[in-house]
Amino acid sequence: MFRYLPEQASEIAPKIDWLNNLVTDLSVFFTVAIVGAMIYFAFKYKRTKKHQKGFTSPTDSHFLEVMWTVVPTLISCYILYYGIVYYRELRHVPANPIEINGIGKQWVWDFEYNTGKKTTNEITIPVNKPVKFILTSKDVLHSFFIPAMRVKSDVIPGHYTYVSFTPVKTGRYYTFCTEYCGKDHSAMLAKLNVVSQAEYDRWVNDLSESKLAEKLDLGELGAKLYEEKQCKSCHSLDGTRLVGPSWLKLFGKEEEFEDGTKIQVDENYLRTAILNPNAQIAMTYPKNVMPAYEGQLSEREISALITFIKEQDGKQKAISVKEEVVVDPSTLTPAQRGEMLYKSQTCNACHSIDGSKVVGPSWKGLYGHDGELVTGDKYVADDAYITESILNPNAKIVKGYAPSMPVIPLNDDQIKDIIEYMKTLK
Ligand code: CUA
Repeated sequence: MFRYLPEQASEIAPKIDWLNNLVTDLSVFFTVAIVGAMIYFAFKYKRTKKHQKGFTSPTDSHFLEVMWTVVPTLISCYILYYGIVYYRELRHVPANPIEINGIGKQWVWDFEYNTGKKTTNEITIPVNKPVKFILTSKDVLHSFFIPAMRVKSDVIPGHYTYVSFTPVKTGRYYTFCTEYCGKDHSAMLAKLNVVSQAEYDRWVNDLSESKLAEKLDLGELGAKLYEEKQCKSCHSLDGTRLVGPSWLKLFGKEEEFEDGTKIQVDENYLRTAILNPNAQIAMTYPKNVMPAYEGQLSEREISALITFIKEQDGKQKAISVKEEVVVDPSTLTPAQRGEMLYKSQTCNACHSIDGSKVVGPSWKGLYGHDGELVTGDKYVADDAYITESILNPNAKIVKGYAPSMPVIPLNDDQIKDIIEYMKTLK
């Protein structure tokens, strides 16, 4: 009866549900029994005639009194016992968990893995391995809740809390912020992907996204951060007033402060406004609303945001879209088409063409080169080996590299073009 609990996706979930269902069933049973008896007696012993004598009832019954004291006490002790046992199990962290640092802030969850992988509002973990989330908050109280795993913890500024569990099935789950924390509290959600160990290893060692960020120009990186860091929840790009000032034509504008001083918005002002926003609050805007980004952004990211703010001068579209130059591929040589693929398929995020080591081997001098695989076997980078590396990249990993390349779905002609391009990189 009353089984409305979410999917059981962690080791502890069935136990917690059993106890929860027991308490629910007992409550339903006693509610029905007590209220039922009350209604029944109310009718049965109703005084029908005006001067009818009431029924005489026994003044006391030791048997009944002992029963209604001892039975509920025993039931309560039973529930308390299992409550303590399961709570201890819930708070116990098994040996060698995967540790993930989580930071809650208005209104996103940031996560960082020990490999250096960073994510926002998304967590990937392997199935059947214990994980431990070490949680803290950047601003106000939040609460980290994963219903399918039956774990929940307050997330407190200046303090660490944790949740730990072992997922038992793969799938996509949700985590919620379950402590009211401001305007976008209800949107403070993170996706939780439980995947196989192999898939997790590939994902957690794949740092190509951060490498890719290094290749963006400052304005593009700023646009990316504007989305990712949720600047957009409070700052519009079209002049609309949200929580904070719009970024449209913000740079160079004169801002007035509460103490009457005025300042022209320049790089230094923006830098302070990002890192320590409550130092100077522009007139008519609320104080202590924006979280401080001190220590959360690299120098490059700060410059990127400032550049992006400068670009919002009203002369271009809010988010600039670079014009694509359309070229007819049939007019190009195979090597030229290969070079285009190298860029369009973002091979360049992980493979340099100048001999430097990024995530994967450089393509300079790669063709025809031989070496050793992680398995100790030898390989020669010929057409067959390169084709296999593109279609099934993690089958043969060169010594010293991580198995982190995604499968690139290219057709035979495209692969030939890439090989031709590699041949030009001597
Ligand atoms: Cu964070 Cu609610």
